[in-house]
Amino acid sequence: MLTITADRLRAVTSRIFEAAGTPPDLAAQMADVLVESNLVGHDSHGVIRIPAYLEQIRRGTLIPSARPEVISETPGSALVDGKYGFGHIAAAFATEVAVRKAKEAKAVVVAIVRCNHIGRLGEWAERAAARDVIAIVVVGGSGGPGLAAPYGGAARALGTNPISIGIPGGTMPDLLVDFATTAIAEGKVQVARAKGEPLPPGCILDKDGNPSTNPEDLYAGGMLLPFGGHKGYGLAMVVEMLGGALAPGAIYNGDGRRGGAVIIAVDATTFCTLADYESSADFTLRRIKAVPPARGFSEVLLPGEPERRSREQRLRNGIPVPEATWEAITAAARGLGVEIA
Ligand SMILES: NC(=O)c1ccc[n+]([C@@H]2O[C@H](COP(=O)([O-])OP(=O)(O)OC[C@H]3O[C@@H](n4cnc5c(N)ncnc54)[C@H](O)[C@@H]3O)[C@@H](O)[C@H]2O)c1
Repeated sequence: MLTITADRLRAVTSRIFEAAGTPPDLAAQMADVLVESNLVGHDSHGVIRIPAYLEQIRRGTLIPSARPEVISETPGSALVDGKYGFGHIAAAFATEVAVRKAKEAKAVVVAIVRCNHIGRLGEWAERAAARDVIAIVVVGGSGGPGLAAPYGGAARALGTNPISIGIPGGTMPDLLVDFATTAIAEGKVQVARAKGEPLPPGCILDKDGNPSTNPEDLYAGGMLLPFGGHKGYGLAMVVEMLGGALAPGAIYNGDGRRGGAVIIAVDATTFCTLADYESSADFTLRRIKAVPPARGFSEVLLPGEPERRSREQRLRNGIPVPEATWEAITAAARGLGVEIA
């Protein structure tokens, strides 16, 4: 395992994307977002993704110079065209639009269509919360079979349908909920497969619909299960409908490519002053944080705390990057004529 500073990873990421035709300002944004995923501990959405994005650029499904724009809007809504550029760039833009409009109209919805992978959803919910705006971010309804079965089903029909919710915390850190609605992220199945380890029960079915703990079964036609049985499935369906029906074009854009990200944004001062909001938010977060730990736990964490702790620790000590990931990144860079010392 290598340990690389965030600054170095950002510099390398920027150079690679620039060499692939990304304008410098967008390349710098991509570097910030990917390295932030590593910093907060979600390595599956960090620099490990660089080779896959480069491959998309090579195939023409990701247009690195594309800049998103608003294609229609009302005081309470906006539709953003991602133009098949980096989904992260579209999501950053849509978040900015959502925050600005929420400050004016209090509650708004922004959808993104013609959108590539937007990465770690928590990035966008966090950005809104930092500006005193509550945000619910979902990605779903790509129209393809995906990898996940509905509760009670034995065929792939849903994506991993992630949802993230950011809520300003007042003087406490902001609350951040951010996860896939499948019991396990597909990236974690890959990790278990590589290590030859079994999965926890309840995560996948094999191709015949039998429960399995063998990661190989997922790649032999099996499927991921929603977390929490019918409850997680219900949430996955909400994400599917918001991303697939509310955001037009996710399913109906005709070329079978993904779209369908939705941001619902509510200004924290919708019903009261910011001071009143903050004191209520503080009270609630402190009350939960003060709950004594159960056996086997050392403390109650608030959603978002693991990410903040990881960021502090990795900013101090560097980001662990597996050799194989680094080799894949440097090989992809070399393919673009970028030598990384
Ligand atoms: N763009 C996409 O299409 C896509 C698809 C799937 C997942 N993702 C991203 O993948 C990432 C990982 O998803 P995941 O399903 O593996 O998430 P996960 O299972 O790691 O859960 C993360 C969430 O749980 C909270 N959490 C973790 N431990 C906690 C504890 N002890 N107490 C309280 N809260 C705790 C975290 O703060 C965070 O909100 C997310 O950032 C998600 O947005 C993106």
